[in-house]
Amino acid sequence: MCGIVGYVGERKAAPILLSGLSKLEYRGYDSAGIAVYEKDRLQVIKTKGRLKALSDMIDGGKNMSSTMGIGHTRWATHGEPNDINSHPHLSQSSEIAVVHNGIIENYISLKEFLVEKGVKFLSETDTEVIAQLIEYNYRGDIVEAVMETLKDLKGSYALGVISRHNPEMFIAARKDSPLIIGAGKNENFIASDIPAILEYTRDIYILEDKEVAVLTKDSIKIYNEYGQMVNKKIFHVDWDVDAAEKGGFEHFMMKEIFEEPKVVKDTFNSRINGDLLKQDSLSFTAEQLNKIEKIFIVACGTAYHAGIVGKYLIEDLSGIPVETDVASEFRYRNPIINEKCLTIIISQSGETIDTLFALREAKSRGSKILSIVNVVGSSIARESDSVIYTLAGPEIAVASTKAYNTQLAALYTIALDFANKKNRINSEELKEKINTLKEIPGQIEKVLEKREGIQKFAANHYNAKSVFFIGRGLDYALAMEGSLKLKEISYIHSEAYAGGELKHGTIALIEKGTLVLCSVTQDALIEKMVSNIREVKSRGAVVMAITQEKNKLVESVADTVINIPDISSMFAPLTAATVMQLFAYYMSVLKGCDVDKPRNLAKSVTVE
Ligand code: M6R
Repeated sequence: MCGIVGYVGERKAAPILLSGLSKLEYRGYDSAGIAVYEKDRLQVIKTKGRLKALSDMIDGGKNMSSTMGIGHTRWATHGEPNDINSHPHLSQSSEIAVVHNGIIENYISLKEFLVEKGVKFLSETDTEVIAQLIEYNYRGDIVEAVMETLKDLKGSYALGVISRHNPEMFIAARKDSPLIIGAGKNENFIASDIPAILEYTRDIYILEDKEVAVLTKDSIKIYNEYGQMVNKKIFHVDWDVDAAEKGGFEHFMMKEIFEEPKVVKDTFNSRINGDLLKQDSLSFTAEQLNKIEKIFIVACGTAYHAGIVGKYLIEDLSGIPVETDVASEFRYRNPIINEKCLTIIISQSGETIDTLFALREAKSRGSKILSIVNVVGSSIARESDSVIYTLAGPEIAVASTKAYNTQLAALYTIALDFANKKNRINSEELKEKINTLKEIPGQIEKVLEKREGIQKFAANHYNAKSVFFIGRGLDYALAMEGSLKLKEISYIHSEAYAGGELKHGTIALIEKGTLVLCSVTQDALIEKMVSNIREVKSRGAVVMAITQEKNKLVESVADTVINIPDISSMFAPLTAATVMQLFAYYMSVLKGCDVDKPRNLAKSVTVE
């Protein structure tokens, strides 16, 4: 899970590569490097650490005259993050340079083969094997050498390749790792993701698996794995450049939390027409739905937590049984799934490899695939039978926030649609619920106005060593997400528990001063939760509760209460989630952590 950029054109390549990489640091940031054609040879500059270290080494690249090059920001998979293992990797003669995202599974046998032929390796990476193998296969035609090499690679790759023999061009290829091509005027680009090149072009080709592209400054040729030329449609990106920048906020995470009212509204608007649900090619007919005996929701991390909310909603509203699965488990547990099942895949990036492979597993067993995806044209979107796009825009902070809220928004509309078609709610109830959904963006705004209270609470507790999140029903699903958010960006140990489960063991960990965050938004479960709060309070816990303004009983037991506006229980997660995200954000800032780029993590997890 790394970031790749490539440039060929008339401008100086190095500053463009550095600027593109700065937009991709969310994909990995333990080392960075570039390779350019300079003074009749390939020059590679790379270093361990953040991109800034690389940029400082070459003074922003302004003294490098090359107009062609490739760049990389790394999240280590093979070999520790150090200078040598950083990309680009050179072949033995230094005539070929390669940047790579993905994992070459058979790299050890390929390396043994090459070593036997006398090739000397410098790094511990799987990527160096690619550079060496291209050189081994080179007989005067670099494109042929790359094509030949790809045939031997097992695993996943997005590649950028340059050669001293052809300084006017570079080659790109992909399999199971994202790569896009940007078409400019007298210049062309490759990148792992669109924001990296948005400053220069909005015309994009999305490379499909096993395709190879050859780029010069005024041509882009794309070939399939058999070497046949492929004609592709340009995809025009209409995002704001600003949408990919911080827009005055200190961190992307806060900017993205503040975008929630808008993006939730946009997502609803794409699914709702007046007080009715839109019926389009994505919608299931009642007849199709009646054939579905079971739904699986499969995802990872935050998207998985959104899926648990989805399970509660779909089961409750439509009566169809729903099973949720973590994608990395689903794939290997022999799930009982067939053509009578629907699999809902959720992914912000649309590139999470565990989720993509789970999708393929479900599909191969006959299940129809409906995905909820944020990135248009991503692998998951392309391989699904139908896609509901969340309109969250680019999410840059590693911690997912606005994408989660839009995933919930999409799930509400799915659950209501299914309930309607299964005749589980009448048209009046449907209208009423749709009207409640429409109020949610305004209610998230009200939560954002209350951020000072959350910040104050965080200021008193950011030294906590351990935090428990508890809730029941939908609040339990929410507790899981609150806990993940806190641990990933503040490095504070935290666990989520169902309110009623705590007493079966975990309550032993509650002692004087332990912080417990309680989500108490489900009317039918308020009294039960109040009892759970009393249980932890009597053992010394400090309790912050999130609840609707109307729930005065909660105020009488918790130490601090953060009120969300009065809203019926079913819809509370959409607003309570924002409280959890703000809490994690302030804890992280107060602890001095790197909010947008927490340690050991990357935004898009494209390795298993
Ligand atoms: O792009 P995806 O939604 O498929 O990503 C899934 C998880 O990797 C992601 O949600 C991860 O858990 C985030 N860091 C959570 O904030």
